[in-house]
Amino acid sequence: QDVLSYRAWLQYCPVKDEEYKQQIEAVLSVVTVKETSIIIDAALSELSLGLKEMCAFQPAITTQSNQNGLHITIEDTQGKETFHITYDKSQLYLSAGDDRGVLYGVYHLLRQIQLKTPLEQFGVKEAPKNPMRMINQWDDMNGEVERGYAGKSFFYDQYQFIKDRTRVKDYARLLSSTGINAISINNVNVHENETDLIFDRYLADVKQTADIFSMYGIDLYLSINYAAPMEKGLTTADPLDEDVKAFWKDRAKVIYDNMPHFGGFLVKADSENRPGPFTYGRNHAEGANMLAEALAPYGGKVIWRCFVYNCKQDWRDRQTDRARAAYDHFLPLDGEFLDNVILQIKNGPMDFQVREPVSPLIGGLEKTNYLLEFQIAQEYLGQQKHLVYLVPQWKEVLNFDTYQKGEDTRVKDLVSGKVLNQKHSGIVSVSNVGIDVNWTGHLMAQLNLYGYGRMIWNPDLSAEAIALEWIKQTFGHDEALVQTLLNIVIPSWETYENYTSPLGIGWMVNISHHYGPNIDGYEYDNWGTYHFADRDGVGVDRTKETGSGYSTQYHKENFECYNDVTTCPDELLLFFHHVPYTHKLHSGKTVIQHIYDTHFKGVEEVEEMIARFTTLRTLIDDARFESVMERLNHQLYMAKEWRDIVNTYFYRKSGIDDIHGRKIYA
Ligand code: GCU
Repeated sequence: QDVLSYRAWLQYCPVKDEEYKQQIEAVLSVVTVKETSIIIDAALSELSLGLKEMCAFQPAITTQSNQNGLHITIEDTQGKETFHITYDKSQLYLSAGDDRGVLYGVYHLLRQIQLKTPLEQFGVKEAPKNPMRMINQWDDMNGEVERGYAGKSFFYDQYQFIKDRTRVKDYARLLSSTGINAISINNVNVHENETDLIFDRYLADVKQTADIFSMYGIDLYLSINYAAPMEKGLTTADPLDEDVKAFWKDRAKVIYDNMPHFGGFLVKADSENRPGPFTYGRNHAEGANMLAEALAPYGGKVIWRCFVYNCKQDWRDRQTDRARAAYDHFLPLDGEFLDNVILQIKNGPMDFQVREPVSPLIGGLEKTNYLLEFQIAQEYLGQQKHLVYLVPQWKEVLNFDTYQKGEDTRVKDLVSGKVLNQKHSGIVSVSNVGIDVNWTGHLMAQLNLYGYGRMIWNPDLSAEAIALEWIKQTFGHDEALVQTLLNIVIPSWETYENYTSPLGIGWMVNISHHYGPNIDGYEYDNWGTYHFADRDGVGVDRTKETGSGYSTQYHKENFECYNDVTTCPDELLLFFHHVPYTHKLHSGKTVIQHIYDTHFKGVEEVEEMIARFTTLRTLIDDARFESVMERLNHQLYMAKEWRDIVNTYFYRKSGIDDIHGRKIYA
């Protein structure tokens, strides 16, 4: 059963319906294609593999026309990465904008067969909504993964690339099957050894890895150390220094001489103790543009992260508001970045909490390329020990109306480039994979990897539709099974929110590893993230009049809504306001009663999840069933821990009883 876990959603299980199998064979036993490229080759071998496994035949590939079957053509007039499939009188036509379009079209066909879609419904016209669809690996060369919850890296071990690349290739297949077209392969925190990824020591290995990904239409990027020049003998990394400029130009030449298809650099600078231009009194635009000039002759890009804030803020300092930081740093630089620089902006102003408002930098910037950054890895969301389906959370972000150009200027349209016509735009996310057989530790966390790719290909796909596709490809089509799993995954984000930190306040986790409850963990620490709970109330005042003024970073409609305690949505109330425990929410409940109720409810919902999953014992093989069950039981244990600690904490602060008289440890 490990095989099924490993194959994830590309299981290609044998088709049992004989009639369907014959129909598929009739249209796919011959494939006509005139063009060739490494990507088309990869597409054809995937098609052959899938058909062999599912339908027990392999297609004949020919360049001759006048054959029946599948006809693949490339039409330059179609947009890049697009494909158009038509089914007509037992012929299938796949016309694509380029070879990536062919690959995506082939994966579409394979998915339809796995989903048992009738042939007449294979026709489709698809174009990705986001030009850049990227993954960030946070792998270190010692073999660890920063915030990795699925075992060690399968890229590196003991400062070497792992020789057997089978898993890297299978990862490329999984990613490209969902439409991913770019990846950075090392941690954004670049340490000593990783600095060498752009030097001779590792360049041949990087090239080999880049070649594997490019077969699947995925451009490879590297995270770089901004202070690399100093590691290599220069006395400065000042972006305006001529020697520093020459250093990076030379690096770029060497890299592109080896790898013409190299994507570019990802940079975390002046952030959480990483070096950057600030040391030399330069700003982020000066810092990024210098690298961009070095990469420009080769079409390379610089992706520059906006996760910049004062991480040394002492808890005694009540003026600094970390939430403001990205906007305060980067908005004044709007328009100053070269056109091959792309900013990378986390979805919220803090750090991947269960609930945050959308970063106001999105909706703020007008003249700058940017990517929206999500985290598939569940750093603050149960670390792949808890079942949390993240697509519903991400979709809320994408559907958020920024009002940048008036009503209906949604995040999804801004990041797709549709509104501002940026040269580069799209979405990126921190990956959740590791060396565990099932890739993601929690088998159900595969859904987040799959869902991320599918959702950023088309943000209008519903969370349900995506989950359905994944469930059927992963566990089969039994109706009861499909419905039960859907009922488990859909509410799971809200469930996690219910038993953890309430009303948008976030954090409340143990410091540093970020797992499990610790209400005051960060409250008296120096990382600048507070809830300000005392005996009278809770929440952070971020209003214009009496607070940090963070609310003013939004356009008028959102500013007014968030800034006013009477209109601020319940789920974000404590992110924007400090209120008494007796404050009435729109729901009609008081804040304190809401805290009690959601925490009891969250645990009940996990119990319900387990009851539902238990009914699947005979419908899922033992190994996969047991592995999920084990994690669900642990989730229940932790949910109770969260419930009791949060409820007790707020009971002791407020002294207010639960109106339902449930057990709170006083
Ligand atoms: C979080 C995370 C770090 C990571 C950082 C980043 O703070 O805990 O591990 O390095 O985000 O996004 O750069």
